[in-house]
Amino acid sequence: MVTLHPGAPWWQSAVIYQIYPRSFADASGDGVGDLQGVIGRLDHLAWLGIDAIWLSPFFRSPMRDFGYDVSDYCDVDPLFGSLDDFDALVAATHERGLRLIIDWVPAHTSSDHPWFVEARASRESPRRDWYVWRDLGANGELPNNWTCSFHPGQPAWTLDEGSGQLYLHSFLPEQPDLNWANPDVEAAMHDVLRFWLDRGVDGIRADVIHNIGKDPLLADLSPKLARIPQQAVNEQPVTHEYLRRIRALLDRYEGERMMVGEVWRLLPEQTALYYGKGDELHLNFNLLSILADWSAATWRDSIEKTAAGLDPVDAWPTWVLSNHDFPRHRTRFGGAEATARAAAILLLTLRGTPFLYMGEELGLEDAVVPPDRVVDPGGRDGCRAPIPWDASADRGWGADPWLPWPPDADARSVERQRKDDTSILHLYRRTLAARRASPALRLGEQTLLPAAEGLLAYRRECDDDQRTVLVNFRDQPARFDPGERLEIEVASDGAHEGEPFSGDVRARQALILGRAARTSAG
Ligand code: NOJ
Repeated sequence: MVTLHPGAPWWQSAVIYQIYPRSFADASGDGVGDLQGVIGRLDHLAWLGIDAIWLSPFFRSPMRDFGYDVSDYCDVDPLFGSLDDFDALVAATHERGLRLIIDWVPAHTSSDHPWFVEARASRESPRRDWYVWRDLGANGELPNNWTCSFHPGQPAWTLDEGSGQLYLHSFLPEQPDLNWANPDVEAAMHDVLRFWLDRGVDGIRADVIHNIGKDPLLADLSPKLARIPQQAVNEQPVTHEYLRRIRALLDRYEGERMMVGEVWRLLPEQTALYYGKGDELHLNFNLLSILADWSAATWRDSIEKTAAGLDPVDAWPTWVLSNHDFPRHRTRFGGAEATARAAAILLLTLRGTPFLYMGEELGLEDAVVPPDRVVDPGGRDGCRAPIPWDASADRGWGADPWLPWPPDADARSVERQRKDDTSILHLYRRTLAARRASPALRLGEQTLLPAAEGLLAYRRECDDDQRTVLVNFRDQPARFDPGERLEIEVASDGAHEGEPFSGDVRARQALILGRAARTSAG
């Protein structure tokens, strides 16, 4: 008998599915996705077998950074619906046994936010200190050499003509950084959290959360670091104080409300710091995985580094291949479907919480966006292409969507793939089901196994439940000897599932192997 681990928190065994709401599903027929669109597709997500949804921003926003520039944290942008629609979404999600995580953007607001409008009105404004202001030097020098994202090499400071001072922005000039050193800012952002937690959300994804703590001296960086945005905020001790207070707020709610952070530190021993002593982030995105190329050596190295960085402090890993900020992994890895299929098995069987980006289960690649249709200041439009729901003229959208379709949209549409049980969509579903049924895959220990070059092999174990996973990154077949009789539970190409494993791994194939005896004993 397998011992289940009833004590493990939900967010450790969950598979979290990211929805970028502009591009997921459109109920209003205006070409931009919305909350009712999401509600209409929840049955599909339940069928797929994910556990939780992370919804990217849907708050009021002038959309200069497509929602990561918030002008009202406690309302839904009319483009996406209303607060009633949001409440209906929470209810509909929970009715299906799914959880809902929302984005929280605490490090900067939109320049249209009433807080900033008031702050910039005059140097004496009571809200002035909610943002970070400095004077120009006597000879027009900037306060320091920090640069901002989206405009490479450009200063993180913009002059506010009206009041004659500069304000700090780590991203666009239309995204001024909040000054968390002011306790009123912290209190206001806590109120935002309570607003959504009280409405029933199960967790938050904290946007660039390392960016809330700033060097109080705003000191210059070395010329090398100054070229990389947000470097000055790394390892600021005060960030951890803020995080502990956010965590304490979450912990006062029932039902393990979870916080996953986006922290721009690459090495796991650095990201480990933001888990604190189990009193800061519950989870932290593992950026090694989204930056990794498709090679066995890279993945072996990432897995080893992740374990070496996180295990000593008991921090639970995460894995992510794609999101709304990077080219999709199928595109990055060269476009072959076999690779996208093998990547699905890798993502869903590593020890840790996987984040799946909408459309990767369809094998989507980035859209080719012609220059006149580029709308994002960071040029990230390709991975934000709309989801094709069916092969009709509007592909289930009711209007031309805001961005071009991804390649092969008809063949890769949800409807077509649901009807074809050899599709990549069905592979994701089978893999998710295998994971759900196996304590070893959900929560077990992980051991890397010796394997031929180009082959990644690992074992997952939890009590007497055990799985072996093989991922062949190469274009040639490989051999693997597990040393015992194993059966193929899931194959990325569907071949020989339910049959004994012969020791052969096909080119670009990934396999989940289980003990044959366990299966035949039921
Ligand atoms: C990270 C988000 O993922 C990205 O989309 C956004 O542009 C920046 N944070 C700024 O909020």
